[in-house]
Amino acid sequence: MNAVKYDQQDRLARFKQEFFQAEGQIYLDGNSLGLMSASAERKLLELSESWKQLGIDGWTEGEHPWFTLSEELSTRIAPLVGARANEVMVTGSITVNIHQLLSSLFQPDKGRSVILTDELNFPSDIYAAESHLRLRGLDPQVFLRKIGSRNGAVLAEEDILDALTEDVAVVLLPSVLYRSGQLLPMRRITEAAHKKGILVGFDLAHSIGAMPHNLHDDGVDFAVWCHYKYMNAGPGSAGGLYIHERHHGRQPGLSGWFGSDKTKQFDMDHTFVKAKGAGAYQIGTPHIFSTAPLVGSIELFEEAGMDEIREKSLALTRFMREFAAERLPELKTITPEADIERGGHIAFIHEEAARICKALKADGVVPDFRAPNVIRLAPVALYTSFTDVEEAMKRLERIMKEERYKNFTNERNVVA
Ligand SMILES: Cc1ncc(COP(=O)(O)O)c(C=O)c1O
Repeated sequence: MNAVKYDQQDRLARFKQEFFQAEGQIYLDGNSLGLMSASAERKLLELSESWKQLGIDGWTEGEHPWFTLSEELSTRIAPLVGARANEVMVTGSITVNIHQLLSSLFQPDKGRSVILTDELNFPSDIYAAESHLRLRGLDPQVFLRKIGSRNGAVLAEEDILDALTEDVAVVLLPSVLYRSGQLLPMRRITEAAHKKGILVGFDLAHSIGAMPHNLHDDGVDFAVWCHYKYMNAGPGSAGGLYIHERHHGRQPGLSGWFGSDKTKQFDMDHTFVKAKGAGAYQIGTPHIFSTAPLVGSIELFEEAGMDEIREKSLALTRFMREFAAERLPELKTITPEADIERGGHIAFIHEEAARICKALKADGVVPDFRAPNVIRLAPVALYTSFTDVEEAMKRLERIMKEERYKNFTNERNVVA
């Protein structure tokens, strides 16, 4: 089937017009920073207006009172991660939330003190895990263990399961690997880890907004994510955390003003009374203007439905991969082929990746470069059409055939 036919049958096609996109540009970088939608912009302006109009009363008045804005949103984000409303909180950032959840749940014991991650994990998740070992007097060289990869691109399930040994306290893995786009079998990992008494946490940065999740039913202990990628809530937007209700009795490792029970918060008592659910793991006053765009953005997900989004996302990446296999043999993909092992982007490797990305950008296609040799292309279900993918791939084909990338230097930009 060709791109035009796919577009004619696309039940999500109408959402494209909701997003701001530069004329003639094909944006394939939504796995790094999603585009702004009209509804996200509207809510940002609305909440800024509530400050202008209401001053301090904005905390309790207006359409979205700031005092309960994060709680209001969390009940709407929870279905996207397959959690109960009281298990999710919109707050912090991925890194801050890892710090909060490890400080609450990582309780090293004699014989069980290892944090298990993988060698392809995002660097800042590693930095965070290492700091929790150091804070407890444990040498990260000894107590941070990394599962090795296959070909530096993907993890093998058997390697993960083999690494779940009795000395591991917590395993922290990505749902989708940021580089190759491999989707891990979260349920099987969780079940195997629990049999060994290991707590399981996932970083959902590259899966939230691209596919449905089942965190509660899968039994996952905790998870963290951002809303600036597939959730399109803007740079530095407030992130999210999930903590299974079986852990809600625990005191937060890092207590703060907004982790308080809301009915007690203004008693000004020095005894901290934590909120009942995941709200307890908030720390400071919520960042209202970094939360506001999500109020608008979530509307689109509710309207479109996560199953539809996932179906289109898979069709888009399949279409892209097939084009590349047929017409771009010099680009090797490191993204697994099976739908159940693939997230929302396709990753290609080429030794000239940095220059190829620059040439693509000059030709009106926004890609994502990851050092040293990865080109990530993310067609996003809500705003990328099949025609966009075809056109982007044709431009890439021209760049490769005519070696146009040679007109660019191979130095990398800070943010490519
Ligand atoms: C997988 C993953 N984890 C963590 C981060 C960084 O998170 P934070 O928002 O806390 O800087 C990113 C940023 O792109 C990411 O892709």
